[in-house]
Amino acid sequence: MNMKIAIGSDHGGFELKKEIIEYFKEKGYQYKDYGTYTTASVDYPDIGLAVAEAVKNKEADRGIVICGTGIGIGISANKVPGIRCAMLSDIYSAQMTREHNDANMMALGGRTMGAGLAIMIVDKFLNTDFSYEQRHQRRIDKITEIEKKYNK
Ligand code: RB5
Repeated sequence: MNMKIAIGSDHGGFELKKEIIEYFKEKGYQYKDYGTYTTASVDYPDIGLAVAEAVKNKEADRGIVICGTGIGIGISANKVPGIRCAMLSDIYSAQMTREHNDANMMALGGRTMGAGLAIMIVDKFLNTDFSYEQRHQRRIDKITEIEKKYNK
């Protein structure tokens, strides 16, 4: 897999992020860690923004963010135009969000999920292509139109 991955977490996702980074190292995946780098409390929007901007600016092909639930950091990432961040807790959704939504980011909950399942979800997310079907592209284009409507 020849893809650059941006990853980041708050303190609530810090331990799970370490496990996912171990998996990247085993697989030889190219990644950059956007923090946090200690267990000290930080604000999840800061990390969500940093990873989302890395994807938006094409420094990374995909972004993975982790907080306690995956929700706060995922909502934050989705505020950046062009970001489609899926909050994931199952493998089926990981596949579908790539095939149907062409999601460029995913969010996980460090306090809601074990590392075994998390890594299977990450693996499916990174190794599934967009379907390139016209009806899915049309729907994604409509998401972009919503962004344009409110980003004036
Ligand atoms: C931090 O305590 C927690 O609120 C955060 O990690 C996340 O779960 C927010 O959605």
